[in-house]
Amino acid sequence: MISARGIQARIGSSEVLKGIDLEVGPGQLLAVIGANGAGKTSLLRVLSNLLPAHAGEIVFAGSPTAGRSAHDLARSGLVHVPQGRQIVPSLSVRDNLLLGTHALGDASADRAARLEREFDRFPVLRERASVAGSSLSGGEQQMLAVARGLMMNPKVLMLDEPSLGLAPQIVRIILTTLRRLADDGLAVILVEQVAALALKVADHAILLRNGESVLQGPAAAFSDNQALVDNYLS
Ligand SMILES: Nc1ncnc2c1ncn2[C@@H]1O[C@H](COP(=O)(O)OP(=O)(O)OP(=O)(O)O)[C@@H](O)[C@H]1O
Ligand SMILES: [Mg+2]
Repeated sequence: MISARGIQARIGSSEVLKGIDLEVGPGQLLAVIGANGAGKTSLLRVLSNLLPAHAGEIVFAGSPTAGRSAHDLARSGLVHVPQGRQIVPSLSVRDNLLLGTHALGDASADRAARLEREFDRFPVLRERASVAGSSLSGGEQQMLAVARGLMMNPKVLMLDEPSLGLAPQIVRIILTTLRRLADDGLAVILVEQVAALALKVADHAILLRNGESVLQGPAAAFSDNQALVDNYLS
């Protein structure tokens, strides 16, 4: 569903990605792990065309993404849930959910059905539908951010550190949801600093360090090399 070859990117004069390859098919969950500053967010930003790559090629749903805007890609189903959630604090939960579909000019009549689908997936969001985004707990805000992405009917869902700052039981709910979405056919790219959690739900993983992939392959192989992974993450 999405593949990238030889991705290189710079921020200012520093090389933040130094030749990354990846491939995620329908039904697969790829974990991208690495320490602070490893390049995880930069990789997602490049895949969304929010940060230009100066080398390499990205193919999404069969076509190269070069020259397409992030909005256009999101409309086609390449959806990015950013680090920090970016909930609109003054809007209700319901309006936050509808925001993406409005902003992208998606006039589909099944918006109400999509809303119901997300309320079924995250019942706490239905209970809180009319309250302002700002009054949600951190965990509820993260569920809202994931649900808002899912409102776009993605083919690829990319999430940047959804577990950040959340209680373990909330993290479990979110990661279990992501695994279930992959099992239902979605391609998922999950960026996480908490590698052990991400590896539990992932099929494949990439370990980044200083913009390079230092280990890449089936998630089980990472769990078998825990000492190596811990060494690179510290
Ligand atoms: N706006 C920016 N200006 C300058 N350098 C930046 C900027 N954003 C990121 N960088 C640098 O790019 C490199 C990769 O950063 P990136 O945010 O992709 O890492 P990350 O793996 O997502 O880290 P974290 O786990 O802290 O979110 C780091 O060296 C960082 O200092
Ligand atoms: Mg980051």
